Amino acid sequence: MRRKVTKAVFPVAGLGTRFLPATKSIPKEIMTLVDRPLIQYAIDEARAAGIKEFIFVTSRGKSALEDYFDHAPELETALLNKGKLEMLEELRDTNMDSGAIAYIRQHKALGLGHAVWCARRLIGNEPFAVILPDDVIAAEKPCLQQMVEAYQETGGNMVAAMEVLPEKASAYGVLDVSEDMGSLVRVKGMVEKPKAEDAPSNLAVIGRYILTPKVLNTLNKMKSGAGGEIQLTDAIAGEIGGEDGVFGLRFRGQRFDCGSKAGFLQATVAFGLSRPDLRDEFSAYLNELVSSQKAAQ
Ligand code: UTP
Repeated sequence: MRRKVTKAVFPVAGLGTRFLPATKSIPKEIMTLVDRPLIQYAIDEARAAGIKEFIFVTSRGKSALEDYFDHAPELETALLNKGKLEMLEELRDTNMDSGAIAYIRQHKALGLGHAVWCARRLIGNEPFAVILPDDVIAAEKPCLQQMVEAYQETGGNMVAAMEVLPEKASAYGVLDVSEDMGSLVRVKGMVEKPKAEDAPSNLAVIGRYILTPKVLNTLNKMKSGAGGEIQLTDAIAGEIGGEDGVFGLRFRGQRFDCGSKAGFLQATVAFGLSRPDLRDEFSAYLNELVSSQKAAQ
């Protein structure tokens, strides 16, 4: 039996420059899709996958994130007094158990690899998940749960892989595949942001990973090496020839890039339409909008 994955790292120390000026005072991860902040979607996904310890790599200006996971006794009492029990239940869902959540600072935004390395002592010597909260995934079975189940079969390192059109490959790390086993692929290389004609496959890496502690050792060496951004992908690629190997999982679900404005807006529409309490009014509005735009053309 493989060791269970019970720890997840949430690197949230980036500058979020694409959402300035909003991110001047609020962390990107607190921005909301309908009525839930991005971070809540990430936490829900991690819980569904059996994660018990939540490690946040934060930076200056992210204290709103820490507050978000605190208990809110005044709000709870007010909701209880007003008999708003459903809302109270939803609010309590955002509370984290004492000791289940840890925060560590990345003092300088030196890259995703560096952010994960900052959490090394909290991770220890066991496999761990990494979730980038700005990749939001709508799926019947949450993406990380699909990965944890696949990991029980394969072990090693695993990245979530999504099929993209060749012209979109340059925005991602793309997998070079040595064996295609259906939903799982064995990886023999990873090419960062290739041109369409150089992309080794149509499988792009998105922000979900299950990694072995060996990746931390590699990050350790990179940390003491040259300056510049320390890439997580480079450290994972270092495991390709090793005994654990690297796998990609074609997860089932739709991923939204909420780190970009267009992706965030698309997610807002999709999540709005999926809500029973909003669907009718919202879709009527969208239909009206589309018809009036067509009429104006
Ligand atoms: P992004 O590439 O989206 O960068 O990081 P960003 O700073 O969040 O946003 P932009 O590009 O300036 O708009 C991907 C993920 O890696 C984390 C980010 O917080 C985000 O979750 N990250 C990135 C760190 O934690 N530390 C870093 O040094 C870089």
